[in-house]
Amino acid sequence: MSHKKKLRSQEWFGGNDKMGFVHRSWLRNQGYPDDYFRGRPVIGICNTWSELTPCNGHLRDIAEVVKKGVLEAGGVPFEFPVMSLGETIMRPTTMLFRNLASMDVEESIRANPLDGIILLTGCDKTTPSLIMGACSVDLPTLVVPGGPMLNGKFRGGEIGSGSFNWQIKAKKDTEEFTDEDFLEAEICAARSAGHCNTMGTASTMATMAETLGLTLPGASSIPAVDARKKAMAQLSGRRIVEMVKNDLKLSDILVREAFENAIVVNAAVGGSTNFIIHLQAIAGRMGVPLELEDFDRIGRHVPLLVNLMPSGKYLMEDYFYAGGLGVVMNELGDLLHGQLMTANGRHLADNYVNARCYNREVIVSRDQPLNPAAGIAVLKGNLCENGAVIKPSAATPKLMQHRGKAVVFESMEDYHARIDEPDLDIDADSVIVLKGVGPKGYPGMPEVGNVDLPRKLTLQGVKDMVRISDGRMSGTAYGTVVLHVSPESTIGGTLALVQDGDEIELDVERRMLQLHVSDEELAARRANWQAPDPMATRGYVRIYLDHVEQADRGADLDVLVGKSGAKVDRDLH
Ligand code: FES
Ligand code: MG
Repeated sequence: MSHKKKLRSQEWFGGNDKMGFVHRSWLRNQGYPDDYFRGRPVIGICNTWSELTPCNGHLRDIAEVVKKGVLEAGGVPFEFPVMSLGETIMRPTTMLFRNLASMDVEESIRANPLDGIILLTGCDKTTPSLIMGACSVDLPTLVVPGGPMLNGKFRGGEIGSGSFNWQIKAKKDTEEFTDEDFLEAEICAARSAGHCNTMGTASTMATMAETLGLTLPGASSIPAVDARKKAMAQLSGRRIVEMVKNDLKLSDILVREAFENAIVVNAAVGGSTNFIIHLQAIAGRMGVPLELEDFDRIGRHVPLLVNLMPSGKYLMEDYFYAGGLGVVMNELGDLLHGQLMTANGRHLADNYVNARCYNREVIVSRDQPLNPAAGIAVLKGNLCENGAVIKPSAATPKLMQHRGKAVVFESMEDYHARIDEPDLDIDADSVIVLKGVGPKGYPGMPEVGNVDLPRKLTLQGVKDMVRISDGRMSGTAYGTVVLHVSPESTIGGTLALVQDGDEIELDVERRMLQLHVSDEELAARRANWQAPDPMATRGYVRIYLDHVEQADRGADLDVLVGKSGAKVDRDLH
């Protein structure tokens, strides 16, 4: 790490020639003094603020606080917008656009006179898309997570964002829940700025960013509206300037062992299954080898230490007050590589020596885990030759070894049309199979794997059934749900060949997902199988369909894997 390296921004601003004039002069219409361009580190603040991404709606304010810190440390901040992915609104699914947003981030960083980057993240995909894009450039980069909403409060109880949604249909079916009740629950569930307050995908991604060493210590769980969020943002602004001076780049931090740490911590906090796809995509950008099997092998014996929805009971605000990620890190101790460099210039383990647990209901100790083995399980079998995943901590124990007859839905539309038909041949032992929801199928691999159970069965008190698909599920969801089946049905994976009544065996302990249909019969079905028409013939979706990889590879575009660095050889004139 050199202190004397010439600043990248000086390639734009340093010349007293025509191009130096051009680069400086127009920027100065915003009122900057000349010394802004004379060798101070230039920090890009990459903002996913958008009124259409409610979880990131407060990031304009946070950006202003980051700027204070940058200026205090002698840097120069420039805030710029990038594509923002709002989970609850965008159709057909934000996952279709994660890679597009990452391209926006990558090119925006590389094309501009930036020395260091602050990534303002929040809602689910805003974190991986920004980190992926930044990785492909590899400048000094620091993540400022937007933080969760305050606990939802509804009629004297707690209401977790996302997780409550999955109960709505059953509540409407089985309880006296009126339209007015739902209207009231709506505002009670989302009563402050911030992202989902469960250990859903947003909190999972913030946890991942901190574990990888990409945030200041403790940053990941501070509620969006807590004053400490702003203090953290200001300190992050100061710190990124130092990171530029020390040339502490993403590639100095994102080594293989950091990814292994992220897998261990994700198991301990009961993080989202989406974590797998995003972490693999990030590793792919960094050129760090990371296989689907690594998630199972490394996470398998990690205990569940955090009692948060959807695996448990509490919410992110409680977790923050209980001590947050530092407590979890200390409990995990020797299961982590503690001697890794992090963004604040210190080793991971040193960052948390002062962490204390203030609520053992929320964060338990390692010798009394909530679940002795919480890692996400990777399944193999003839139904998923390249793998499938299940989150045991969110599943029903007695269903984790199960044999049942398939009830097949060829698409999401087919499911909606038939699931509540009174004469549908289905019972609690059936296995619901949903096709056409993989990366190419929907397209974009939506979070639909945890489909609602048929009304006639929930009325009988059935709470969970085995469900299998090539889709994802929300990090806020739960159930015995097999996800990410690869290869997906739309490209002719074996999932495409399943028919009503076929016997399927799930054995999580043995990591097995098997379709009990003979090879000859499957070959015959395969010979008759016809690929569906592509979902788009033009535009970004066409590019996406032509290039997206399967779920077991992280679903990045093949042309985006890897990095090109920060260098641009040609000036604009
Ligand atoms: Fe944005 Fe859950 S909807 S984090
Ligand atoms: Mg989500």
